[in-house]
Amino acid sequence: MRDLSAELLAWYDIHARSMPWRVGPADRKAGVLPDPYAVWMSEVMLQQTTVAAVRDYHRKFMGLWPTVGALAAADDAQVMAAWAGLGYYARARNLLKCARAVVSDHGGVFPGDYETLLTLPGVGPYTAAAIAAIAFDQPETVVDGNVERVMARLYDIHVPLPGSKPLLTDRARDLTPLARPGDYAQAVMDLGATICTPRSPACGICPWRGPCAARAAGTVAELPKKIPK
Ligand code: ADE
Repeated sequence: MRDLSAELLAWYDIHARSMPWRVGPADRKAGVLPDPYAVWMSEVMLQQTTVAAVRDYHRKFMGLWPTVGALAAADDAQVMAAWAGLGYYARARNLLKCARAVVSDHGGVFPGDYETLLTLPGVGPYTAAAIAAIAFDQPETVVDGNVERVMARLYDIHVPLPGSKPLLTDRARDLTPLARPGDYAQAVMDLGATICTPRSPACGICPWRGPCAARAAGTVAELPKKIPK
């Protein structure tokens, strides 16, 4: 049987996108993990905002408040002002609430397990899985819109979203390796963002072009199906 996650990780070793909060695959293999605080902030910022826009804001926030303790002690109005332009201000309010909860309930240290992360303000299943996988290398599965699209195509799943979400999540979970789950999570998202894009995907250079069921069936362009909102 072919090892799909190993094939994706081999691609990621070469093509991982560089991001200010990310630790690249070579350093991760040497045992270096990113700062959970920086990862958490990036994932909250990325919820409704592109990577390109988040870069500068992330740098600004880490400069102003380099630790979760610093952010927890920050002035609310100053944080809201720094957030201006990112939109969806509930995220900024939750950012402060979460920082204060990490300080008051967890001694200023981000918890590393999925269930505990879920109890934090503003941290839902996506963010909890992302922090556990990326910052702690826990074998949690991260499923965002990129991952849903990649799974729908890889397995040629025509059940429309949102009903197909549990099915797509199961497929993504089955592929999650016990070794390097943090790199795997970031690799699927990078694949969805750079190769398996909504329009004009670059199937010819995709590391999963061989096993991709939608490519074989000629259905890539119509997936994932969605029930109109
Ligand atoms: N989009 C949201 N989080 C991401 C991550 N950690 N890597 C790549 N794309 C992302």
